[in-house]
Amino acid sequence: MRRKLVAANWKMNGSKAEISALANAFVQGIEVASVDVAVFPPALYVEQLAGILAGTGIEFGVQNVSAAEKGAFTGEISMSMVKEFGCHYVLVGHSERRELFGETDAQVAEKVAATLEADLVPVLCVGETLAQREAGVTEQVVAEQVVAVLERVGIESFTRVVVAYEPVWAIGTGKTASPEQAQEVHAYIRSLLAQRDANVAQQCRLLYGGSVKASSAAELFAQEDIDGGLVGGASLIADEFTAICQAAKGA
Ligand code: PGA
Repeated sequence: MRRKLVAANWKMNGSKAEISALANAFVQGIEVASVDVAVFPPALYVEQLAGILAGTGIEFGVQNVSAAEKGAFTGEISMSMVKEFGCHYVLVGHSERRELFGETDAQVAEKVAATLEADLVPVLCVGETLAQREAGVTEQVVAEQVVAVLERVGIESFTRVVVAYEPVWAIGTGKTASPEQAQEVHAYIRSLLAQRDANVAQQCRLLYGGSVKASSAAELFAQEDIDGGLVGGASLIADEFTAICQAAKGA
C-alpha cells in the first residue's frame, strides 16, 4: 500500500507573521499518523518553519534548488544549504518554473539527480497545457517530461521520486481535473514506469495537483493511482488544507 502524501506549495506568498499563523494551525489541526505531509514555503522562511514543525512529523522542503554545488550562481540556492536547514523534500520542475523561468526537461532531470544524490526526496512536477490537451498530446507531453528524468536517474530511483501530475490548465484556475481525467493520466504515468519495472511502478507515489480543494480532495484521492495531492491556493487556508489532509487519511 502506498502511503498518501499531501503537500502544500505556498509559492511566493507569506510573511513571518502569516507563516507562523499558518504553520501553527497545521500543527494543531493535522494528524500525521497515517498520511505524510510536506510544506514548501518560500526559501527565506524555511528556518522559521523548521522551528515550528520540529518534532511534529510534518516535513518541509524548498520550491526549487540549483543543481550546481556552489559558486557564481547569483540568486540560486544549493543542495547543501537546503540540507543544512533540515529540508526533506525538493519541488522540481513546477510548471511555473518551466513556463516563467524557462526550465527545460534536461535541467529538471539534473535537479532531480542532485536531490537524490543529497538523499532528499524530489517531487517532480509534470503536466500539459490546455493547448496540448486540446491537441490530444497530453500523454506525449507527460511521457517526455517523465522519460527525461528516467533516463538521467534510472527507474530504480522512482521508489523515492514522487511524481506530481499537474495539468497546467488546472493550476490556480479553480478548474480541477475530474477524478476520471486525473486517474487516466496517473494510470498512464504508472504504466510508463511499469514498462521499465513493474515493482517500482507500484511503489512510486503519484500526486495530483491543480485547484485541489477540501471539497474535491476525497474523490480525487479515492482513485486507484492517485496517492495524494500537491496543493497551492487551498494550502494557504489552514482549515482547507487540514481538511485535505484528513481526506487523504480516509482514502
Ligand atoms: P493550485 O496550485 O492548487 O493553486 O492550483 C497547485 C500547484 O501549483 O502546485
